[in-house]
Amino acid sequence: MELLGSLLLAAFPLALQTPSNESQPAPWLVIPQPKSLAYMDGEFCPQEGLAVRFDARVQWEAEFLAERLREFTGFPVPTVREELRILYPQEIHLEVLDSESNPTQYQLLAHPERIHVAAPGTAGVWSGIQTLLQVWPTEPQACLRACLVTDEPRFAWRGLHLDVGRHWFAKDDILSLLDWMAVHKLNVFHWHLTEDQGWRLEIKKYPKLTSVGAYRASTPPYGDRRGSDGERYGGFYTQAEVREIVRYAAQRHITVVPEIDMPGHMAAAIAAYPELGNDDIPDYDPQVQTHWGVKPYTLSPKEETFAWIDDVFEEVCDLFPSTYVHVGGDEAPKGQWKQSAFAQSVMQREHLHNEDELQAYFLGRVSKLLEKRGRKMLGWDEIREGGLAPGATVMVWRGWNHAVAAAQAGHDVIMAPTSHTYFDYYQADPKTELTRGDEYECIGGFLPLEKVYAFEPIPKELLGSEAAQRILGCQGQLWTEYVKTWDKLEYLAWPRVCALAEVAWTQPTKRDWNSFQQRLRPMLARLQAAGVRTFDPFAEPEPAVPAGQD
Ligand code: ACM
Repeated sequence: MELLGSLLLAAFPLALQTPSNESQPAPWLVIPQPKSLAYMDGEFCPQEGLAVRFDARVQWEAEFLAERLREFTGFPVPTVREELRILYPQEIHLEVLDSESNPTQYQLLAHPERIHVAAPGTAGVWSGIQTLLQVWPTEPQACLRACLVTDEPRFAWRGLHLDVGRHWFAKDDILSLLDWMAVHKLNVFHWHLTEDQGWRLEIKKYPKLTSVGAYRASTPPYGDRRGSDGERYGGFYTQAEVREIVRYAAQRHITVVPEIDMPGHMAAAIAAYPELGNDDIPDYDPQVQTHWGVKPYTLSPKEETFAWIDDVFEEVCDLFPSTYVHVGGDEAPKGQWKQSAFAQSVMQREHLHNEDELQAYFLGRVSKLLEKRGRKMLGWDEIREGGLAPGATVMVWRGWNHAVAAAQAGHDVIMAPTSHTYFDYYQADPKTELTRGDEYECIGGFLPLEKVYAFEPIPKELLGSEAAQRILGCQGQLWTEYVKTWDKLEYLAWPRVCALAEVAWTQPTKRDWNSFQQRLRPMLARLQAAGVRTFDPFAEPEPAVPAGQD
């Protein structure tokens, strides 16, 4: 960052000549809070004739910025290649520095005469654009306070997960989520594509995965977990739609990490292709599941199953350029493997002592199928049970102890604990929420905004140790058993995702709950103005209305 600072200051020697810390109107209210923000005298007042000058490597980003500025200002806002000698009265210069520094750093200088975003990589320029757009004056004739921002992320993995297995959501809704992730400098979209209740990814070689596996006979209504609405439900994403989503995300510097959950959470696939399951057990009758919870159906450790996984990965790896492929591994009950003579014969053949070791054997084989394609295996923390393939990355959702043990054993770790990152938990007191109607039902729990904000992803046992470097970052989880509509999803996501973004990006010394609340008000207003439904953490709790009176 020293390098960046000296470059920009050399280019604009006047900018910091009279730094002022006096309080002035219109502070820069940014989420996530940047590493350093230094106000200066003066203001940048956007005028007609404003142009975006860009390095060819950030042409798309420049067009994106110019388009937003056209919306804000009503001016034409042309874009111009860096090297062209056309000068405009006002310029925003997007510069990619020839530097070996961390490409996710950036510096943003808003000088009274011009704006300059400089970064050693395109990702940094993109982050600088996001900061600028958050503070851009929206009132006509308004100006932007002069300021120098020097910024970089705390964690490389800043994620948001979405379960489309329990409920399917439209492509355009997913694109809008990606837009808001980008605003918050989140860079990983973990797409949970397969579940007991629905397989949502078109696989050309196995059409029944979607023609059969994407549809279930019914769904529990809100407020009646054992009930059935009796309506066939389903949907899936075609490969063309997936490619569009992956491309849209990549343009916004977001990697889409697909999850194909195995060997459990596979009932829909097994319903489509029953030979993939433990078909030598009594009462074998795989169906796409119609109720939530952990289900007994697991993949059988047959060679045919591994060949099927290999084929599925062939298409998955073609669709998703992500280094990581998430293989789930969570909540796989071992009952069917205990019952299956075939599964037991594999245990004997491989000298395995128990079904946990069989799962480790299974995932070890799966890991090799990814390795041969140059990909890395990622899974929920259960993948450690029975022994874990070296090089696998662990996504911790249960206790901190799993993170400590995995990191100390040399595995990379992503923190996704239920305690701070499960956004399917109630955001307000469940009693108050439920008086508003059954549609406010959540899976359970209570995770208010302040608790998300207080999340510290590095377990205290690792602080100061080498192993702390193993914590790649963190992510929020959007599980959707109790999310039938996109507006409910938004209500659960926002503004908890804002808090998670600050946890993932901002240095802990710069985190401040009071400041965050102040910065959250304009962000909430922005979300709401764009039609996003948010929970309002500033609203007075509504008085409980007895059922039947509203
Ligand atoms: C999980 O919540 N089963 C990862």
